[in-house]
Amino acid sequence: MYYHRLGKIPPKRHTQFRQPDGTLYKEEVVSSEGFSGIYSILYHIHPPTRIREIKDPAPYGAKRVDDYALRQTHLNSSRVDTTGDDYLTARKVLLTNADCSISICAPKTRSMDYFYKNAEGDEVLFVHDGNGFLISQFGKLEVRKGDYVVIPRTVIYKLEFADGPLRLLIIESASPVETVKRYRNQLGQLLEHSPYCERDIRPPAELVTETSSGQFLVKIKKQGFLHHYVYDHSPLDLVGWDGFLWPYAFSINDFEPITGRIHQPPPVHQTFQGRNFVICSFVPRLFDYHPLAIPAPYNHSNIDSDEVLYYAEGNFMSRRGIERGSFTLHPGGLPHGPHPGTVEKSINARETHELAVMIDTFRPLHLTNESLAFLDKNYPMSWTDKSGESFNEVHTP
Ligand SMILES: [Fe+2]
Repeated sequence: MYYHRLGKIPPKRHTQFRQPDGTLYKEEVVSSEGFSGIYSILYHIHPPTRIREIKDPAPYGAKRVDDYALRQTHLNSSRVDTTGDDYLTARKVLLTNADCSISICAPKTRSMDYFYKNAEGDEVLFVHDGNGFLISQFGKLEVRKGDYVVIPRTVIYKLEFADGPLRLLIIESASPVETVKRYRNQLGQLLEHSPYCERDIRPPAELVTETSSGQFLVKIKKQGFLHHYVYDHSPLDLVGWDGFLWPYAFSINDFEPITGRIHQPPPVHQTFQGRNFVICSFVPRLFDYHPLAIPAPYNHSNIDSDEVLYYAEGNFMSRRGIERGSFTLHPGGLPHGPHPGTVEKSINARETHELAVMIDTFRPLHLTNESLAFLDKNYPMSWTDKSGESFNEVHTP
């Protein structure tokens, strides 16, 4: 990331910075990886440590399924039940391991009357449908359909969406979510061959300073519980901050695809990295231009990764069973590849309009009890189906 600042800060860190009434603003250093990672310095009106009440924690999270057999998996999560759900209750974790969890979230309510903090993971929200704002201590960030919203752990936030369809793919990471290391120079700047650059990254644009007193609930996610902390001041009581650690948005529509004469491997689609997993974007692009090129991907054996695809937009909907909002999991240990009929059909195709998000994990994923409701039992045998002509283009790997 890069240095950013909003609001008022003193010229020198850790020095006297006074409010109009003569009292000191309360400085808070928010740092990652101890004091070795990126950090920001926040200036509060009230001490961030002053708690009004601690309520009982509530268990939170999905249960891992441990006896799921090795098989190609399709989760048809296009029709997630949204009845009465808000942002946290609507988050359904479908796949998980120690490094990351993958959830779908289609809340019925459009705004939150509490604040939320994930104390154990960075979060990436892929906004499949929806437009609104992420409002955090770092300010107001406009969020649009197609955005990845990257929220470092411990950022206190709430979401406000406009009326209309709302669907989020949420990736929670036990390690920091970062831009791709091979696209950065030694000082962290994104290089010329990166598919996106700093101009595409949108920081919070406007600081929100709330001075009112009352009861402000912050739900804190940690170790299988939501912990309920009540404060008598808003956590958005900042007059300024600066540093490298802040939430940001990056639109999948600003990812510039890398294409070639022959089929390009999945790493050209990489967008973010975490420890033991990557996030990739498959965006509309021209196909390979070698005269004998085969645009459809080759059969592929993952020998050390599980491969998850989330189908966002495009002509995959003509692939039997796969719908907008579906997930596939192609686990390590089995080859996967184009469905019958699709390889020949792809030849001489000029372009694709597919949009998909891929999460490749380097340790096996587990299904959860929430995911079983979406299981497509026919998918493992779908490559054997003789009615191959009914399948259409799916050019993601
Ligand atoms: Fe693959």
